[in-house]
Amino acid sequence: RRHLTILGIESSADDTCAAIVDSDGKIHSNVVIKQHDVHEVYGGINPLSAIHSHQSNMPFAVKRALKEANLDLKRDIDGIAFTRGPGMAGCLSVGMDAAKTLAAALEKPLVGVHHMQAHALTVMLTERGNEPKFPFLTLLISGGHTLLLLAKSVNEFKLLATTNDESIGRSFDKVSKLLKLKWTNLGPGDALEKFVAETDDSAESTVTPITRPLPGQLAFSYSAHHSQTKALIESHGGVEGMDIATKRAIAREFQTAAVGHLEEKLVLGLNWCRKRDIHVRDVVVSGGVASNSYLRERLRRSLDKYNSDESFRLFFPPPYLCTDNAAMIAWASTYRFSKGDTDDYSVGLLSKWDL
Ligand code: KG4
Ligand code: ZN
Repeated sequence: RRHLTILGIESSADDTCAAIVDSDGKIHSNVVIKQHDVHEVYGGINPLSAIHSHQSNMPFAVKRALKEANLDLKRDIDGIAFTRGPGMAGCLSVGMDAAKTLAAALEKPLVGVHHMQAHALTVMLTERGNEPKFPFLTLLISGGHTLLLLAKSVNEFKLLATTNDESIGRSFDKVSKLLKLKWTNLGPGDALEKFVAETDDSAESTVTPITRPLPGQLAFSYSAHHSQTKALIESHGGVEGMDIATKRAIAREFQTAAVGHLEEKLVLGLNWCRKRDIHVRDVVVSGGVASNSYLRERLRRSLDKYNSDESFRLFFPPPYLCTDNAAMIAWASTYRFSKGDTDDYSVGLLSKWDL
């Protein structure tokens, strides 16, 4: 396969990203400009502010990616990749327009990438030489998605379960907001994890456990977790004036239930494959929520307990590549660039796009 150096651009949600990656898996640069201070005042992503931030940040993200890689766009870059979807249309268009214009002006080939496919293939970049083997199961858990997929090849995915309502990431965000936690630089979900991990105060046993929605079904429901947590907060008299131990116990109960729900569906997915004689040994977990370390440990234990003759390998990208980034976009595009399978400059975005 020919050696290719690709500029990737990502702007599907609230991070403005540009990165340069080559087909040997070297990340030459990986620029992520977060907009958290813009969105924290709204308590979530504000669509218009997100578009405006992408518009003002994208030129600098691309410029910095080239500068940090010490590469020249005309001379050294073989192709330009961008996130074609799924995502917020207004946000996607900022990255797409930048990519198309650069590609057309510099006569470079162009590839529009599926954001979730890129999350799923990130481990192929980070685990070179020790890649997961197809078919593998993959959990893609982010602010926009909660997907359990059977990955059959780099571009064939079978959907086993998705959320009936909101995503796991959004429910972390909302619960974090309900508990009035201060965002860390990695956002509200990370703030909740850090808050739970701070100490292990003993009031935890005093909160009523959250009941698991959709038992035994290959489907997720996270609005159920978030609304039960809301009721729990109210049953303790609301968050104002709540003592910190109770607040932490509620946060812990939410996180435990949310991750337990994932764990249950992962096991159902493994059973589903086993019943059909689909030999799965590897499990890949990615997307922003996969940076949660409680989740990482808990899924590891769950796979170790799963009754099978062989042990499973569990893959996570490093946390900085679990959350949105353009390195994964550039990497995912190399599978198409290397076959000469590129898009026209007239290609359109797909804000909804099935895998
Ligand atoms: O993949 P991502 O960066 O963007 C989307 O495509 O949505 O995921 C962002 C989501 C947010 O909901 C954020 O709160 C959540 O991932 N997140 C976490 C953690 N870090 C980020 N959720 C739980 N624990 C974390 N440590
Ligand atoms: Zn994402």
